[in-house]
Amino acid sequence: MRVQKFSDNLAYSCWLGYREIKNKDVLKEYRKAFSCVAVINKTKIPRAALDELKYGIGKMLEKTPRFVDYINGDGIIIGPADSLDMLSSEEINGIGGEGYIIKNDNGRIIISAKTGRGILYGVFSFLRLIQLERPLSSMNVLDNPLNMLRMVNQWDNLDGSIERGYAGRSILYKNNKIVRNKKRVRDYARLLASVGINSIVLNNVNVHYHETRLLTERYLPEVANLAGIFREYGITVFLSVNFASPIELGKLPTADPLNTAVRKWWADTVKEIYRHIPDFGGFLVKADSENRQGPYTYGRNHAEGANMLASALKPFNGIVIWRCFVYNCLQDWRDRATDRASAAYDNFKPLDGKFLENVILQIKNGPMDFQVREPVSPLFGGLQKTNQMLELQITQEYTGQQKHICYLVPQWKEVLDFDTYAKGEGSTVKKIISGRLYPQKYSGIAAVSNIGDDNTWTGHILAQANLYGYGRLAWKPDTDINEITREWIILTFTDHPEVIEIIQSILLNSWRTYENYTSPLGIGWMVNPGSHYGPNIDGYEYSIWGTYHRADCYGIGVDRTIGNGTGFAGQYHKRNAEMYNSIESCPEELLLFFHHVPYNYRLKSGKTLIQHIYDTHFEGVEQAEKFKAQWLLLKDHIDPERFEHVLNRLNIQIKDAIEWRDVVNAYFYRKCGIPDEKGRIIY
Ligand code: GCU
Repeated sequence: MRVQKFSDNLAYSCWLGYREIKNKDVLKEYRKAFSCVAVINKTKIPRAALDELKYGIGKMLEKTPRFVDYINGDGIIIGPADSLDMLSSEEINGIGGEGYIIKNDNGRIIISAKTGRGILYGVFSFLRLIQLERPLSSMNVLDNPLNMLRMVNQWDNLDGSIERGYAGRSILYKNNKIVRNKKRVRDYARLLASVGINSIVLNNVNVHYHETRLLTERYLPEVANLAGIFREYGITVFLSVNFASPIELGKLPTADPLNTAVRKWWADTVKEIYRHIPDFGGFLVKADSENRQGPYTYGRNHAEGANMLASALKPFNGIVIWRCFVYNCLQDWRDRATDRASAAYDNFKPLDGKFLENVILQIKNGPMDFQVREPVSPLFGGLQKTNQMLELQITQEYTGQQKHICYLVPQWKEVLDFDTYAKGEGSTVKKIISGRLYPQKYSGIAAVSNIGDDNTWTGHILAQANLYGYGRLAWKPDTDINEITREWIILTFTDHPEVIEIIQSILLNSWRTYENYTSPLGIGWMVNPGSHYGPNIDGYEYSIWGTYHRADCYGIGVDRTIGNGTGFAGQYHKRNAEMYNSIESCPEELLLFFHHVPYNYRLKSGKTLIQHIYDTHFEGVEQAEKFKAQWLLLKDHIDPERFEHVLNRLNIQIKDAIEWRDVVNAYFYRKCGIPDEKGRIIY
């Protein structure tokens, strides 16, 4: 068997660099144990899994294993669970559809699963254990993913641009064509599979002229080629579709979901897609949102819209993922009753239970839009009879655009752990999206990807940790974030204790740091309109987008309480509604999201609100400067290319953090006229 070559470039390899094992004793033990591999029932084992095993072991042990027919003594045995007699029936029963087992059977290592996907995940997990230098005796793992769909959404456009992309151009498209050289696509599929991602949406949720045509004969053969590559890595492909396609492509006068000709058009189109891609996943739909067409255009509701597509996909086991990001984007800022935060719930809660069983509602983590901090969307726990999945954003649209370090795994973990109290205590988001709170035919988690054609994939090497962490959390939301972070550092850089400690400290403090020097206490926004980069306190204040902070000379914040405010707090179940509704019990980090608060209001720390704003902004810059000082200590432990790359990014981060600090502090100082108690420079 030939050895597949993957790139040796350190930034490009991400966490799959497979460094050689330095510890002599471990190396000796591994070399003895992993010198040969027996593959049982080879036709059922994905080629990619065997390639990876051979390549990974070959690199880490500097000795490529021999592939043999059977093994007597030491070695690795890889095969489907029903073809191996070394697994007990209990073990076999414990392996789920996409799970795997790694078992130390008297020194032999067994890697097994019930499906090709499971085998792939088992191999990647085994290679991870090797890189982490886990003793052979501890190589016993039975692992099943908790979420069914573990998905990334590419916001790639056919012209090669990426909506909210900060790492170069698309790896999928160029000049309105699908790229000819697909090596990079394969490398991406490999990265995704290595962290357990099993599905991908290939194009932006905003489906423009060319992307609308992905459903046609012009593009489908090439989409099928992409699907073929992802399939090798156990990844199912989906497409974002334009709700108005029957008009744009079918020349029909309407896209009304109840119109017979429209329904037939979709049914025929879906049939064509499956002729090209028999295991096609289905559609992702952004409808009636930010000027896209949708069922409202025809006086229909979202269940009628989604169900129409679901009926077309049903004969092929396809699914519709329908986004809940529906709100009025033509608001009048003077209107204080309409609240964008309430919109998703208002639109979808009345439809609970009205969707067909192959529809999933995809809900953004927060009620606004991927801000540095927001409460969890009340649709989680609100919807109880509908399939649902969580949508996160790995790409750092509002969190520093991969110029700043903002490790989002802790934020996601908070979302997953949030208790909705929908069915009493313990009704967490992670239980809902894994189908453990209400029965759901389909559920899971999706995130907007952060990759592009930059050599680092993610534009900032430390942002690779977000992609890695997303996959690991999607697999198992209970995983300890320290463990994920540590693992990523060792796989990506080294197991040197100082490096682990420093990078871990930087990553785990980075979200709070970013929050400190940007918008305070959950209010969000304050960014430059359009680009969403850099401070502009009133950038969205008097606009149509429904994104206000309501600062005046007395105070700041949006009153979303039940009595006097917009009433948004009332969308939560009682315990959370009460908590958010009262200024005393509202978590302070979300204070301004729920309350309009005077500048001289005393926080629990004893500081006034305005002093808190000043202090956190000075602190945020100091923390960014500390990241740089910490990073500089790593010079001898990190290769020059990656060391310099991160250092350059840190310099940008510090410069921009200073700008944020000064713009925010100056704005509030001039609004309220209250000086900084510490007498620092505020312009
Ligand atoms: C944000 C983002 C848009 C995107 C939208 C969405 O508003 O800025 O670029 O299209 O989210 O999620 O649909």
